[in-house]
Amino acid sequence: MIEVKDISKSFDGKRVLEGVSLVIEKGKCTALTGASGKGKTTLMRIIAGLTEPDSGEVVYRENPRCTFVFQENRLLENRTVLENILTVAPDRERAEYFLGRTGLLEDKNKKASELSGGMKRRLAIARALSYGGDLYFLDEPLRELDGETLKAVAQVIKEEISGKTAVLITHDEFSAEFLSDIKVKV
Ligand SMILES: Nc1ncnc2c1ncn2[C@@H]1O[C@H](COP(=O)(O)OP(=O)(O)OP(=O)(O)O)[C@@H](O)[C@H]1O
Ligand SMILES: [Mg+2]
Repeated sequence: MIEVKDISKSFDGKRVLEGVSLVIEKGKCTALTGASGKGKTTLMRIIAGLTEPDSGEVVYRENPRCTFVFQENRLLENRTVLENILTVAPDRERAEYFLGRTGLLEDKNKKASELSGGMKRRLAIARALSYGGDLYFLDEPLRELDGETLKAVAQVIKEEISGKTAVLITHDEFSAEFLSDIKVKV
């Protein structure tokens, strides 16, 4: 369990978060929902310890191994699809399993720079799932995906985060309904 206590944060004098308190329950997926610009990514970064709040605190009971799908893909554009994963998660068999589940196995030797927007997103997801971990931070993971691909990728994410703790940011209803156990509006 992670306790988020009375978090406030401003940027350049503009208040983004004010007195936000919530609990991230162990083994559950908590969705942070809300309109664009409301501070979802900022809150996620504060929970993950990547951004300092102006006031308030985040209390961890354990020291988890964290995995991220950031809002941006953050790929190594000049490396191949497979290399992008092996750089952070060296188990090749596991990497190829998640490339298969995200429909990228045939593209494993392509450079990341050659991929379409949706393929890049799927690679960012395959990389995160290959890394594994106990605590997942997923910032709009399914953005840029649609149709059958979206369903397949949502399914593998759901399987992998099952029983793990996850913080999901989303403003689409499908992701919130399909992936999360608890919804919190930011
Ligand atoms: N590092 C930063 N420096 C200055 N302003 C920032 C910074 N990070 C976020 N902000 C501002 O804080 C506000 C909230 O941004 P944030 O990215 O957390 O929103 P969000 O809810 O994730 O939005 P979206 O759904 O569009 O991703 C915005 O007005 C944004 O411009
Ligand atoms: Mg955001």
